[in-house]
Amino acid sequence: MYYTFNYAKGVLLLFIYRIALRDIERKVREMAKKIASEKLDEEDGSIVIDADEEQATIDDLPGVGPATAEKLREAGFEELLAIAVMSPNELAEQAELGEAVSSKIIQGAKKMANIGGFVSGNKLLERRKEVQKLTSGSAALDELLGGGFETQAIVEVYGEFGSGKTQIGHQLAVNTILPSEQGGFDGEIFYIDTEDTFRPERIAQMAEAVGLDSSVVLDRIHVARAYNSAHQMLLVDEIKKLSKNIDVKLIIVDSLTSHFRAEYVGRGMLATRQQKLNRHLKELKQLSDVHNALVLVTNQVMSKPDAMWGDPTKAIGGHIVGHASTFRLYLRKSKGGRRIARLVDSPNLPEGEAVFTVTAEGLRD
Ligand SMILES: Nc1ncnc2c1ncn2[C@@H]1O[C@H](COP(=O)(O)OP(=O)(O)OP(=O)(O)O)[C@@H](O)[C@H]1O
Ligand SMILES: [Mg+2]
Repeated sequence: MYYTFNYAKGVLLLFIYRIALRDIERKVREMAKKIASEKLDEEDGSIVIDADEEQATIDDLPGVGPATAEKLREAGFEELLAIAVMSPNELAEQAELGEAVSSKIIQGAKKMANIGGFVSGNKLLERRKEVQKLTSGSAALDELLGGGFETQAIVEVYGEFGSGKTQIGHQLAVNTILPSEQGGFDGEIFYIDTEDTFRPERIAQMAEAVGLDSSVVLDRIHVARAYNSAHQMLLVDEIKKLSKNIDVKLIIVDSLTSHFRAEYVGRGMLATRQQKLNRHLKELKQLSDVHNALVLVTNQVMSKPDAMWGDPTKAIGGHIVGHASTFRLYLRKSKGGRRIARLVDSPNLPEGEAVFTVTAEGLRD
């Protein structure tokens, strides 16, 4: 009897002890999470309200059950902010919902979405001072871009086949490894290849031409082949994880749009495609800001046979890609193997053109 009592007491004590331990563990975890989020805020210098609050998702919206959440996801609405900025009839049409329901969902999303904070102009100026510029190997092209390809930016290079988009990607990958005195970043590269056009031999050729050891260069370029658009987006998540241990200074997506274009065909799919592209670009931009890195995306052009004047070509992806890119370069083939690059859109530089060539050694004037 005495032993049974003691045994029961022991079990009870052990039980209480384990509960207490679990509670302490939970508190420590919460504290670590809070510290991490506070550190993040300090780093990016923005005013964030409720920074350590768990991010709400579309499943948390009032009146949204699993079926509606599924409909929203299928229509490409994965984020609250994307819903918050819609009008009820647009959302109703795109997600195949009733207009009253849509209106309620939008109201909820407006309350729950993280709209973002304000930062002082001085803080931004400080961030801008960290911007580094990468040489392309062509002085004319560098000058067009105000001294080279900038970090904290997405540069979109578009043009028809053979215009030199992939060549620019290869050259920038090599130059990223150069020390800063030679116009490089002395950093590493993530290369998302969607068309199977990454060529290590070409990298080696360009590396030797600038006096780098090709094997060292190839070691610092991390290449992944993306098999479809979903995979392409997952690879960006992978970069997020890997860049904790890798000093990433350049991220290339060649091509940004080919999978999206092939998979989302027709007018009915357009909204979904644009939303996915938008999210993809936002994630890339975030990486470029966090790591003070350059993001280079390439894009094809579609022929616009009805255009009577000007260049009958237009970049794929329309406004979304255009607005998300900080700089847009339009490439054209010219006589004698020359290429003409036109700076189409830039927040602080005038429009203009530069002529460069693609040689065996790489990009040159
Ligand atoms: N080793 C080399 N030496 C000289 N020129 C080269 C070399 N390799 C490629 N080029 C030039 O680059 C061109 C190919 O350019 P690139 O592959 O960058 O085109 P792109 O714009 O990416 O086209 P696409 O839309 O098909 O992907 C070739 O036609 C050739 O003129
Ligand atoms: Mg290419």
